[in-house]
Amino acid sequence: MTEIKELIKEALKARLNSYSPYSGYRVGAALLCKNGKVYRGCNIENASYGATNCAERTALFKAVSEGEREFSAIAIAGGRAEDDPEDLSDYAMPCGICRQALSEFDKSGELLVVAARSVNEYKSFKLKELLPESFDSSVL
Ligand code: THU
Repeated sequence: MTEIKELIKEALKARLNSYSPYSGYRVGAALLCKNGKVYRGCNIENASYGATNCAERTALFKAVSEGEREFSAIAIAGGRAEDDPEDLSDYAMPCGICRQALSEFDKSGELLVVAARSVNEYKSFKLKELLPESFDSSVL
């Protein structure tokens, strides 16, 4: 529980770095590795909209590129620029591409996804509930 709240704090902090001049929708994510390390990420938009990277994938790619492969939870905090940064107006769920990207590193099916409005208001799911019957390496 305390660990989840700490992870949400990190996601809220990551959100402050969001680069989102086009949508005005600011997202932060914090990915907890099984070894206890936390990697933060924010959404990074682009004038060529399709080049935008979501917060979750920013955190995931930072972690994987540093050698991490095992993760236990990811907290996500998203909301419009005008929201109170500590008390967002709604929950941000991970998009389909981010669910798929995370699933690559969730072979055990234990990864917890925490969508948070604030440190005290959050909903949690297992990634496999959010992406059932996913495409994975077993067919390749
Ligand atoms: N966004 C994320 O960062 N994560 C998601 O899972 C959904 C969407 C970002 C992308 C874009 O910068 C903004 O939210 C609006 O789509």
